Amino acid sequence: MYIIHSVQELKQLVSAAKSAGKTVGLVPTMGALHEGHASLIDRSVKECDTTVVSVFVNPTQFNDPNDLNHYPRTLDADCRLIEERGGDIVFAPSVEEIYPAPDTRVFSYPPIDTVMEGAKRPGHFNGVCQVVSKLFEMTTPDRAYFGEKDFQQIAVIRAMMKDLGFDFNLVACPIVREESGLALSSRNALLSEDERETAASIGKVLFESRRQMADRDVRATHDFVVNALNAIDGLEVEYFDIVNADTLQPVAAWDEAQRVQGCITVFCGKRPVRLIDNIAYKAS
Ligand code: PAF
Repeated sequence: MYIIHSVQELKQLVSAAKSAGKTVGLVPTMGALHEGHASLIDRSVKECDTTVVSVFVNPTQFNDPNDLNHYPRTLDADCRLIEERGGDIVFAPSVEEIYPAPDTRVFSYPPIDTVMEGAKRPGHFNGVCQVVSKLFEMTTPDRAYFGEKDFQQIAVIRAMMKDLGFDFNLVACPIVREESGLALSSRNALLSEDERETAASIGKVLFESRRQMADRDVRATHDFVVNALNAIDGLEVEYFDIVNADTLQPVAAWDEAQRVQGCITVFCGKRPVRLIDNIAYKAS
C-alpha cells in the first residue's frame, strides 16, 4: 500500500493504474476511521481494481474553529485500517497541498444546500464541494463512495457532480451502527462512555418512531422524536426534519413523496458533541 502526501504522486499512481486498464475507486474521508469508513473501503475494494482513500481534515468545511481544532486526527491507525481492508493508496495531503491558494469558488445548490445542515452550518457545504471537487479532479475515479449518515451531503455532492459534469457513479453506502443503535461517526471518539450510551438513544428513538409511523402523522412523529430525545438528560435536539428524500424539503404527510427521510442533529454531553443521524421512513 502506498501512503502519499502530494497531488503529483497521486496523479502518477492513478495514471499508472488506468494505463494498466484498472478501475479506480475513491473513498474521501477526514480520517479517524471506523467501521463505517471500513464498509466504504470494502465496497470499493470489491467493485474497483484500485482503491484510493483520502485522509484530509478539510478546514474550509468547518464553520466553527473549535470544532476543527478538536476533530480527531489518527493517521497511523487510519493507515493500518486501510491496509487491513485492502486499500491500495492512502492520500494524506497537507492543507497547502490541497489549497496552494485560497479557494474562492462558490457552490450553491438551493434549496438542497440551504436547509438542515446548510442552514445550521453556513458555508459548510461550500467547503465540502470545494474539497470533493478537487479530490475528484485529482483522482478522476470510476466510482466514489460516501456514507448515508451524511444524507444531505450526498444530495449536495450529486448536485455538484451534475453542475460540474463529473460523469461517474457516486455510490451511497448504508449507515453502520453499533449494536446499541448508535450510528458510527468519527465524532463518537469525543464522547465519554456514559455519553456514548446516552447517544445510542438517538438511533433507538428514530427506529421506534418508524415502527410506530402507522399510528402517527408526520407532525406527531416529529414531536414524538423531539420530545423523547429532549427528555433524556444530556441530549438536546438541534433540528429534526422529515423531508422528501430527493428534494430535502419538508413533507406534511407520509404520502406526499415516494421516499421520505427523517434527518436529525442532536447535541450530546458536556462539550457538547454534535451528532447527526437519519432514517428512511419510506424508501420507495
Ligand atoms: O464526509 C466527510 O468525511 C467529509 O465531508 C468529506 C466528504 C471527506 C469531505 O471532506
